[in-house]
Amino acid sequence: MFVHIAGTGSYLPEKVLTNDDLAKTLDTSDEWIFSHTGIHSRHIAADGEETSDMAVKAAGRALAEAGVKPEELGGVIVATSSGDYRSFPATASLVQARIGATNAGAFDLQAACSGFVYATRVAQGMMQLDPRPVLVIGAEAMSRLLDWTDRNICILFGDGAGAVVLKASDEKDGILDSILGSDGGSVPPVISCTGGTKVCPEDPVGGKMHMNGRAVFNFAVKIFDDTIRRMLERHGLTFDDLSLIVAHQANARIIEAAARRMKQPLEKFFLNMNTVGNTSAASVPIALDEAVKAGRIRQGGLVASVAFGAGLSYGGLLIRW
Ligand code: UT7
Repeated sequence: MFVHIAGTGSYLPEKVLTNDDLAKTLDTSDEWIFSHTGIHSRHIAADGEETSDMAVKAAGRALAEAGVKPEELGGVIVATSSGDYRSFPATASLVQARIGATNAGAFDLQAACSGFVYATRVAQGMMQLDPRPVLVIGAEAMSRLLDWTDRNICILFGDGAGAVVLKASDEKDGILDSILGSDGGSVPPVISCTGGTKVCPEDPVGGKMHMNGRAVFNFAVKIFDDTIRRMLERHGLTFDDLSLIVAHQANARIIEAAARRMKQPLEKFFLNMNTVGNTSAASVPIALDEAVKAGRIRQGGLVASVAFGAGLSYGGLLIRW
């Protein structure tokens, strides 16, 4: 049995926050942000617009494209670190009810920015036991986790959702391979000190996200080509066989460094952080959907994804479209 991506969909909130908007209240500039990240603007969820609202919109679009009815789904997985509720119910349960996926199991998966890649692999495994289609969503309201006075972090993130519908088929190819990894250390380089059992000494009240950006940057550059190379080698393929690389949209400089290491032209990498920013677990599925809609992913094309984030977690997908 092979598992194919039968449809993709995404949703970005209406409100756009530009670097110039941020520079009105922060000691920063469009020039600094763009030259250090490749980001010009990001979308921000409206007051009262929750992670599940964005997930439902992206899901509806992916289901319509796949021609799958919600009641046919065997599972709904939402990869998120910013669900509607801190602990429970799962955002996936809210989505399952809202879209009418009456026969599906539903749960959230938290692997930070790598969440969508993790969820896709988990869904693929579930489909070996029950071949009904699975809806995999990455959805984040990162704007609710940020300290808007911290220029080191708040300039990076945006809100949004992306979704794919996975379908089982006897037709060859689809998701060829995946890799999941974790490099947890004693001092996590990215922490959101909100609502867990641990009181963070640097943020005893909670509610803020802390990050050692440099540490994440260096980690990302290291695992980027290594993860894709390992998947390709297992299939007797090389970087030259790839038609597109759809990576986590954290920072254009990470992607440029990876392109140099892989000796691949930058045109082979899909970039949308310019207008979307870093949407954490929603980043890869939004980028996949935009790449499909832009005609950058075609039937038969070989696509690699790689994601990395808090944990430090990382993962990769190799897909023959
Ligand atoms: O999704 C996964 C999670 N996170 C990531 O992917 C983040 C990965 N890391 C990065 O993208 C980069 O490390 C950043 C964009 C976060 C930072 O870029 P950097 O080139 O590593 O800059 P830096 O942190 O070394 O800071 C350089 C300088 C500092 O000033 P001093 O100490 O040299 O005087 C910062 O205070 O830039 C300053 N700075 C800023 N200046 C203007 C930091 N943020 C800003 C800002 N505007 N927004």
